[in-house]
Amino acid sequence: MRLLAVDHPLVAHKLTVLRNAKTDSPTFRRLADELVTLLAYEATRDARVATVEIQTPVAPATGVKLSSPKPLIVPILRAGLGMLDGMARLVPTAEVGFLGMIRDEDTLQATTYATRLPDDLTGRQCYVLDPMLATGGTLAAAVHFLVDRGAEDITAVCLLAAPEGVEYLERETRELGVPLTVVTAAVDERLNEKGYIVPGLGDAGDRLYGVVD
Ligand code: URA
Repeated sequence: MRLLAVDHPLVAHKLTVLRNAKTDSPTFRRLADELVTLLAYEATRDARVATVEIQTPVAPATGVKLSSPKPLIVPILRAGLGMLDGMARLVPTAEVGFLGMIRDEDTLQATTYATRLPDDLTGRQCYVLDPMLATGGTLAAAVHFLVDRGAEDITAVCLLAAPEGVEYLERETRELGVPLTVVTAAVDERLNEKGYIVPGLGDAGDRLYGVVD
């Protein structure tokens, strides 16, 4: 597994505003969107392209276009939805599949409650959107799910990661034989006893969309 913590002043600035407990939901949503677009630039560095011949106003030229099969963006519901527009803006030809996963706040185990994805992901590059790589349980389950359907290259885009989650994800996906990259704005200090990232930014879903019980 490859881990890339994007070191860029704009990323650090936006992340600081997201972390601030005083930042309201509309601002949080807008900045999360902008931050994902910056992360998406790094996350798509290995996007597959095919050569194309075009004609400029001046001369013929050789260029590239994103190749087929189209990349698949997979936001993990609910909080991953807040990252979808920021990612799709940069990869507008990508298709989108949805994976609904929830973690039990007592056991911290992830369960799948909704799926809307192509059955066959053979040859697809997949971009999984999950704001918080905390215990790693949700992301590991999502990666297994996609590999079971044939995904051959997976990049997870996360706003924040915890060292414990990075280690767990590495361990749980090592045997899959599929390239996995995690792109994040920062790797924080640790998880607390409730499975929250410290210092983190709190519950990403609640900060995006409000509290539901
Ligand atoms: N999920 C969140 O939304 N925040 C955390 O800190 C950990 C998991």
